[in-house]
Order: sequence, then C-alpha cells, then structure tokens
Amino acid sequence: MDLLDRLRVPVIAAPMFLISGPDLVIAAGRAGAIGAFPAPNCRTTEQLDEWLTTIASALGPDLPWALNLVTHSTNERLPADLEVVAAHRPPIVITALGSPRPVMETVQGYGGVVIADVVSVALARKAAAAGVDGLACISAGAGGHTGHLSPFAFVSAVREFFDGIVAVGGGISDGHGVAGAITAGADLVYVGTRFLATDESMAQPEYKQMIVDHGVDDLIVSSAVTGTDASWLRPSLIANGYDLDDLTVPAQRSYNSGNADGHTRWKDIWAAGQGLGTIHAVEPTTVVIDRLEAEYREAMQRRARFGRQD
Ligand SMILES: Cc1cc2nc3c(=O)[nH]c(=O)nc-3n(C[C@H](O)[C@H](O)[C@H](O)COP(=O)(O)O)c2cc1C
Repeated sequence: MDLLDRLRVPVIAAPMFLISGPDLVIAAGRAGAIGAFPAPNCRTTEQLDEWLTTIASALGPDLPWALNLVTHSTNERLPADLEVVAAHRPPIVITALGSPRPVMETVQGYGGVVIADVVSVALARKAAAAGVDGLACISAGAGGHTGHLSPFAFVSAVREFFDGIVAVGGGISDGHGVAGAITAGADLVYVGTRFLATDESMAQPEYKQMIVDHGVDDLIVSSAVTGTDASWLRPSLIANGYDLDDLTVPAQRSYNSGNADGHTRWKDIWAAGQGLGTIHAVEPTTVVIDRLEAEYREAMQRRARFGRQD
C-alpha cells in the first residue's frame, strides 16, 4: 500500500485512447495523482519505448504512474510491448479487454503492481483468482466503454472477496465524488473525462470544448459505434451522420479507431462520461488536481460531522 501513501489525492487519471500521453501522465504524477496512458496510443513498440523513457525519467523512482495494456487475443503487439515494459518497469500496469494473466509474470516479477480493468463482478472474481494486485471497477456513467453497475454496489460486492487495491470509476469528476467512492470502500478513483478537458490532453480543441459546453443529458450510451456499449456525446454522433432514432443495431465489435460507416471511431466520434456536468473550463492538469484535493478534503470534513461521539 505504500504506493497510495505517495499520493496527494487518491486518483488515477484514467487511460484514454488518443487522449492520454506523456504530458498528461507527467503532469498528473507531479501534481500528486497517478497518470496513465494506453499502449495503443503509441503507433509502434519503438514509440512506446520512447514514451516510457520520457515518463520514467521525468517522474523518477518515487512518483507512481501506470501503463494500460490491451490483453485481448487480437493484440498482436503484446509480446513486443511486454519486452519494453520489462525494460522500463512502469510501477503500475492496468490490463484491459482481456485476462490479466499474460502480463502477470513480467510485471509482478519486477515488483510492479497489476490492476485489472473489469466491468462485472464475474470478471472481478476471475481477475482476483488470477492473482492481480488491484481491480479497476468500471461502473455506470463511465466515458468510453462503460460499465452498468452502480459504483457503490460494485465496490461492496468486490470487497466481499477481494482485499487488494480497489479503484472505481464512472462519472466521477470532482473531489466530492472521490470522497464518496473512498468512503464506500475504494482505495483509488479512476477519473477519465475530467482529464480529457485539460491542457495536457491530446484531444482536439473542439472535443475539449464540447465537453465544457455540454452536460449529462447530452450523452448517449450505444453499441452502434464499436459493438460494445459506450457513452458518446450526442452532438458528435449527429455531426458524424448517426440517426439517433436508429442506434439499436450494434456495430461489428472493434476496439481500435477503425472506420465506422465512414467515420473514424474515437478520433471523429467523441466519447465522454457522466462527470462532464461539472466541467466548466479546459484547465491545466495541476489546477484540476488542486481542486480535486480541495473538494476531497471539504467532503471528508463534512462527512466527519456525522457519527461524532461527543
Ligand atoms: C475518450 C475515452 C477513451 C478511453 N480509452 C480507454 C482506453 O484506451 N483503455 C481503457 O482501458 N479505458 C479507456 N477509457 C475508459 C477510461 O479509462 C475510464 O474507465 C473512464 O474514463 C472512467 O469514467 P469517466 O470518464 O466517467 O471518468 C476511455 C474513456 C474515454 C472517455
């Protein structure tokens, strides 16, 4: 648990396809949270090598950060990426879209922490049985490929059988929500959308502005774009020619940025989670983390009012 002791606020800036890179990871780490990026954001294993070198030298041995690896059987780059991982030793590896097993030996072998991203209690049980150090429980309201469980129910169910690190995410964009999740039994909160609208995010300026300009009622969860339920910005679906009355047919399942009926998923069609309602400006990551910490402390003080012994 000493990993958590080094944080100013118990937050992972969650990995986001085409959005998170070294600038965001370094800014989050320096500000006292955990930055993360998905390996597919690097076009090649050589570029992954460069990014890991940049991040490791900027953050040094004491500040935690995370790499997100896709462990699905279709990821042909995984063996080569894992060699680079073994060389650079990211303190945390978060697995997604597949069993964590392929990375366990390498990462735990150098003393790294493996966290498996899961969307159901059944998947959480499987990952726990595989021996992961942590679980990232993706709940309802998450941006990108979303979960369906209430974060409270998810954390409670997982705590019945798992005493490792529990991160929970989905629609949490402020420190009050972070405090709620920690109070509910999580160790860390997985925050994606809030970091999408930062200076360091690689999203196009129009995408960031769409996050700022819209609220929770402007989201649509649909499998029509990637074949899996994901939370999309309604104006972005309209701009890309989707008929909102006909989003019932799931697309062929795909996890990359390939073409969806002439539109490029993730690059042109933009995702966001339910936490966008409290995002009012594109800001530097350090400002976002300062505010998360201030709100977190305020919420914890408010909580302490109840259950006093005096
Ligand atoms: C635009 C976007 C891209 C995402 N890409 C990835 C990804 O490549 N890998 C992954 O494991 N999760 C991905 N996610 C999910 C986030 O890691 C995280 O679970 C989610 O953002 C948390 O919910 P929130 O956005 O409501 O804070 C993505 C989310 C968004 C919004």
